[in-house]
Amino acid sequence: MTQNERSGPEQSAQARKEAAVQIVGVDIGFGFTKVTDGRQVEVFKSVLGDPADIQFRESLMDGSSTLPPHRHIETEDGAWFVGELAESQSRGRTFTLDQDKLIAGFLRTLTLTALASTVEDGKPVRLVTGLPISYYRRHKDELVEKLQKRHEFATIDHQGVRTTRSVNIDRVRVIPQPFGTMFHLLLNDFGKAADRRLATEKIGIIDIGFKTADYTISNKTRYSERGSQSTDAGIAKAFKGIAAALHEKSGVNVELYRLYDAVSQGSIKIRGRTFDLEKITAHAMQRLASSIANEVNQLWADDWDIDTIVVTGGGGAALAPYLSGQLVGQVLEVKADEDTRLNNVRGYQKYGVHLWQR
Ligand SMILES: Nc1ncnc2c1ncn2[C@@H]1O[C@H](COP(=O)(O)OP(=O)(O)OP(=O)(O)O)[C@@H](O)[C@H]1O
Ligand SMILES: [Mg+2]
Repeated sequence: MTQNERSGPEQSAQARKEAAVQIVGVDIGFGFTKVTDGRQVEVFKSVLGDPADIQFRESLMDGSSTLPPHRHIETEDGAWFVGELAESQSRGRTFTLDQDKLIAGFLRTLTLTALASTVEDGKPVRLVTGLPISYYRRHKDELVEKLQKRHEFATIDHQGVRTTRSVNIDRVRVIPQPFGTMFHLLLNDFGKAADRRLATEKIGIIDIGFKTADYTISNKTRYSERGSQSTDAGIAKAFKGIAAALHEKSGVNVELYRLYDAVSQGSIKIRGRTFDLEKITAHAMQRLASSIANEVNQLWADDWDIDTIVVTGGGGAALAPYLSGQLVGQVLEVKADEDTRLNNVRGYQKYGVHLWQR
């Protein structure tokens, strides 16, 4: 059933609730920031940069689709170009692979950038977000403290027009990141359990992101401490090997977040020379997949009663061909047509609906 197919009284009750609060999921990853309100989804790179003064704004190509979305924001943490705009226009760019730095320096700006295009100022926002397994306990209260309040900030559009914003986040719920995928599989758009089987099973979740690989077990939807762990076996580990080889051949240090497209295209052009990446990528990915499979098989050695293993996160899709056959157990196939980077954030939003809108 889609949103429009709901029946009469249910629809008006639902509509009233929807009018009162906005329920949003935000996933701040080391690679990408993801946001959804259940209808639209946005993804941008978790990169911040100095706001350059763009003097010549016209593009020679017709149509603005060739330009990156203009994410320019001023928060209490400063003025920033965010995402692909920072990547292409800022002189000074920062991204981080350090959890403390991500929270201290990036969290608020990335969250507000994500919310800017998703929510309206007038209605309270309820936010579900996540943390990697191993940082969950240490940082969850800090996240709530930083985010659960009214935020005054401004956005600047591509023509330089400034809009002041006032977004009131009245509730924040933080969950361990891979549970986002679990809720995505378990709940429908109305926050109700859609898959009874999953709710009664023991599920192993492997969430491979840009920096971290998170492993967790959901036993009848309950978190299992024993089977949960974060490691740094994210895609960046493979990318570091690729970047090192490129540096040796070209003398250029390619920033890791500039490798996504090159790796998926199988080549990169540096100072006019094209470097083939296929062989080295396959090698680096195979190594990473093997070390993940080893870690998981060891971690879950005592949990031989796992019913299903789910591989998720953007890195999960990238590594799926290399992982197959190496994991012990029944693995849920990654669907080829889905952007698996979005699994967690979709689940966060559905969980928010489950908590606050049913
Ligand atoms: N369309 C795409 N563009 C870029 N990367 C993609 C795409 N699809 C899959 N990927 C892969 O997704 C990975 C990022 O996955 P994801 O967004 O889940 O990470 P993250 O959540 O930002 O990182 P972490 O969980 O470590 O904080 C990339 O490293 C890349 O291998
Ligand atoms: Mg992630």
